[in-house]
Amino acid sequence: MAKAKKATKKASKKVAKKVAKKAVPKKAVPKKTAVKKPVRKAGPEKAAKKATKKVADKATKKVAKKAAKKVVAKQADPKPTNPPLRTFVRRSPIHGRGVFAKVDIPKGERVIEYKARKITWAQADRWYADDESKPSHTFLFTLDDKYVLDGNKDANSARWINHSCNPNCESDIVDGRIWIESIRNIKAGEELFYDYNITLETPHTPAEKRRWSCRCGSKNCRGTLLGKKR
Ligand SMILES: C[S@@+](CC[C@H](N)C(=O)[O-])C[C@H]1O[C@@H](n2cnc3c(N)ncnc32)[C@H](O)[C@@H]1O
Ligand SMILES: [Zn+2]
Repeated sequence: MAKAKKATKKASKKVAKKVAKKAVPKKAVPKKTAVKKPVRKAGPEKAAKKATKKVADKATKKVAKKAAKKVVAKQADPKPTNPPLRTFVRRSPIHGRGVFAKVDIPKGERVIEYKARKITWAQADRWYADDESKPSHTFLFTLDDKYVLDGNKDANSARWINHSCNPNCESDIVDGRIWIESIRNIKAGEELFYDYNITLETPHTPAEKRRWSCRCGSKNCRGTLLGKKR
């Protein structure tokens, strides 16, 4: 996925440039509206017009000032921080809720970040003991040996993404952030999936595999959300 990451970085730079270019005429707005027309002696009608214009000019100046402030703020942050979401959540035919593409998404793009509270595995073990009497369900996403993102807390919609053994996305961890990236072209309306590849601390026995059984329905379904244990 190194290629994909590079492409994303380039794209962000492009967007930042575009914003900066757009910003220039916006900055020029106050000057334009602040131009003083030559003063002429006026009758009551003209005086009224003048007064209205003064008020209007003041309002325009205020708006322009605000816009200029926004532009400066945008220039200070070159990264597009909140690109519009290209996904939405609804019931999934596979399991519970799922995440779907709102628009066509090309291969090799960051689709959504998996955002949630970062906790330690020790905390996760205390808070979410695996109850073997219940069908398995997890919102935990491993960051590394020490940390995990807890999709039960402060999480965004990425937590609803289901697993498939033949996924159209994969997860990529960069600098402690988890990105869900498209690994093929995705059509609007398609459900997004990545391979959970879950690893348990205990052996992946047939019983555990069944408890974590997969219903993705793909031809190469391995029958479980569990991955191969190293
Ligand atoms: C993070 S949740 C995903 C959202 C889930 N659909 C929901 O509504 O809660 C993960 C859980 O969803 C279920 N799940 C996800 N993909 C599945 C699949 N392919 N087959 C069966 N269950 C799945 C499992 O219970 C898994 O632990
Ligand atoms: Zn499957």
